[in-house]
Amino acid sequence: MGSSSKYKLRENIHKIREIELEKINLAEEFDILQIVGEGWFGKILLVEHRVTDTEMVLKALPKPYVSIKDFFREFHYALQLGPHHKNIITTYDVSFETAGFYVFSQEYAPLGDLTSNVSETGIGELHSKKVAKQLAAALEYIHLHDLVHRDIKLDNILVFKSDFSRIKLCDFGETRKAHTLVLRRNEWLPYAPPEVLATSTEEHYKCETCHDVWQFGIVMFVCLTGCLPWQKAAYDDPRYSRYLYWHGSAGVLQTVRRPKLFKLLSSKAQRWFRKYLEPNPQKRPPNLAELPKYMEGRWLSKGFSDREEEREDESLCPSMYSFHSSAEEKNQLLSTLAAYGIETTVDRRSKKDRIRAWIQNSSIVEETEEDDEPPAEASVWALAASRFDVGIMGRSRRTRAKLKAAPPQADEIRIGGAQWRPAGRKVRHGKDPGGGECALGRIPGRSEG
Ligand SMILES: Nc1ncnc2c1ncn2[C@@H]1O[C@H](COP(=O)(O)OP(=O)(O)OP(=O)(O)O)[C@@H](O)[C@H]1O
Ligand SMILES: [Mg+2]
Repeated sequence: MGSSSKYKLRENIHKIREIELEKINLAEEFDILQIVGEGWFGKILLVEHRVTDTEMVLKALPKPYVSIKDFFREFHYALQLGPHHKNIITTYDVSFETAGFYVFSQEYAPLGDLTSNVSETGIGELHSKKVAKQLAAALEYIHLHDLVHRDIKLDNILVFKSDFSRIKLCDFGETRKAHTLVLRRNEWLPYAPPEVLATSTEEHYKCETCHDVWQFGIVMFVCLTGCLPWQKAAYDDPRYSRYLYWHGSAGVLQTVRRPKLFKLLSSKAQRWFRKYLEPNPQKRPPNLAELPKYMEGRWLSKGFSDREEEREDESLCPSMYSFHSSAEEKNQLLSTLAAYGIETTVDRRSKKDRIRAWIQNSSIVEETEEDDEPPAEASVWALAASRFDVGIMGRSRRTRAKLKAAPPQADEIRIGGAQWRPAGRKVRHGKDPGGGECALGRIPGRSEG
């Protein structure tokens, strides 16, 4: 891995910009082509800006759950990091608010995230190595800026080429400056490092780059095996306990049986997993600088049929799957969550209603103050046409916003099914935004407190 001189560190990366957001009516400015994703809070829409005919993705964060401070932080880090690294999603300097959402804009990842690209047996050794290299490069860049991503998981790795030769990290909603105290919330358990799980909820812990190293290990384990190594890295998880026992036995004469899933890996890969999935954060490497040492040689053990047997025996951990993947997977996940006592009621109808209400509520009447400059000629979005390098932020025009009862959009936007877009538009590639998607009873994760 390169040295820190490889990148020019920008000092202002920790100075989070807070600017006045333009208030716009989303449905008036954009054609919504497709909902391409839904996170814990964020809705990701593929849209076309009407005036400039420009296609882009909008990440819309609902005001009731995401504070303006959190919004600015996520937008700022995404904007600072993305354009300078090929394995980080490019965020454009375009942000605004609607009645219900704070919104910023990004490039579109045509093949969705890794969850929908990983099969039950993983993605194989060659592709896993490609993902490892690119993800490690993105993390190196983030860590060089003294930041910790804190949410490395399959859902946040976007795929641009089907042979995995171009993947990009996204979602900077949890990104924080290294060594700061952060609040423990209900982290997504399978990816959380043990030191985080050992902190009680609503208590603080120190955020360190070795957190990302652990999550990198979990992602790579899933890529190689198709399975999560455990449900959570805590003593009451039998798979993790077995791993701990095996991990602790390294270098001891007594032979301890490898956890079954680890038998799918070559001894070389087992070594690096032991290194990066090091339970003690003090001993865990703070970066992935040594990864190139492990790139040569096999990562999977020999014999595909052996691996199949192991997998059957161990049974797949369903929670590796994204919230955004198929209904069957989600149902598996739901029962797992229910077994852990987590409320998981899915109400698809109410999700559709929420989306409809969202579009309707994003209708805003703007009143330009008398002493203001006249509105920019066509729209601020004309600026976006010039390769998005000029944003709508920092404008001097101040607006007051009033919510108006929006007219029903039903004739314009079909909800449900694979097309959720103005009639007559071509749906681009990507995931089915309709029936397959559902909002689970999410564990609140974004808003502070
Ligand atoms: N630029 C993009 N192009 C295509 N799909 C995207 C893009 N950005 C996000 N997605 C999809 O939307 C999903 C949610 O996006 P994102 O992770 O940014 O939202 P979030 O609400 O912060 O999620 P989380 O649940 O991880 O907190 C992603 O997992 C991915 O499937
Ligand atoms: Mg995400």
